[in-house]
Amino acid sequence: MTSATRKLIIAIDGPSGAGKGTVARALAAALALRHIDTGGMYRAVAWKALRDGVALADEAAIAALARTAVFGLSDGRIAIDGHDVTAEIRTPEIDAAAASVARLPDVRAALVARQRAYGEAGGIVMEGRDIGTVVFPRADVKLYLDASADERARRRAQDAAHAASRDNGGVANVAQALAARDQSDRTRTVSPLTLAEDAVYLDTTGLSIDEVVALALAAIPRT
Ligand code: DC
Repeated sequence: MTSATRKLIIAIDGPSGAGKGTVARALAAALALRHIDTGGMYRAVAWKALRDGVALADEAAIAALARTAVFGLSDGRIAIDGHDVTAEIRTPEIDAAAASVARLPDVRAALVARQRAYGEAGGIVMEGRDIGTVVFPRADVKLYLDASADERARRRAQDAAHAASRDNGGVANVAQALAARDQSDRTRTVSPLTLAEDAVYLDTTGLSIDEVVALALAAIPRT
């Protein structure tokens, strides 16, 4: 590995259940880069707002929380202000609350600034919805992962981290909740989920994780 490889900024965007987390972790491990799951940051902020009794519509209060929270993002775990919330933020309640706070422009501005700070020195694989379009429009590599709605719902229903979603009524329910959240992510006014012009589009429907990771690695320039 060269130092040039280590400085890469790799942006991964796409809808829920497209495999961003799995691919981001695999790329980070293969290239010795840091992995940041920005969805986890929106989820952790939503979790803290709910815990502190802050109304999800109180943009100023939630933005202040997003600006000042101390995030712990390492080894695939997410902590906020000293609480490890890795498991607690993967519930249907937080799915909905995170999509709601992600619509608030001041909350996005606060988290985008923090995401840029994590990545400014490079050496990072960052996944989310607006990484290649807003957070790092000059990222070295932009991947957009997609899959059919059916396949994304199936994967999400089988995902151990989202066991609560699965236990709450099976694939049909997961599919419905996923579709609602996708709609919210794609149609919000600030930084909706869109495909960056210069992103590599990967349709992962029917592909194994290894196949997707191989395609993603092939898109990364080596020096
Ligand atoms: O990737 P995820 O499902 O954990 O994301 C949680 C929510 O946050 C989801 O509604 C999309 C939103 N999000 C966002 O708006 N921008 C990001 N960069 C990451 C996630």
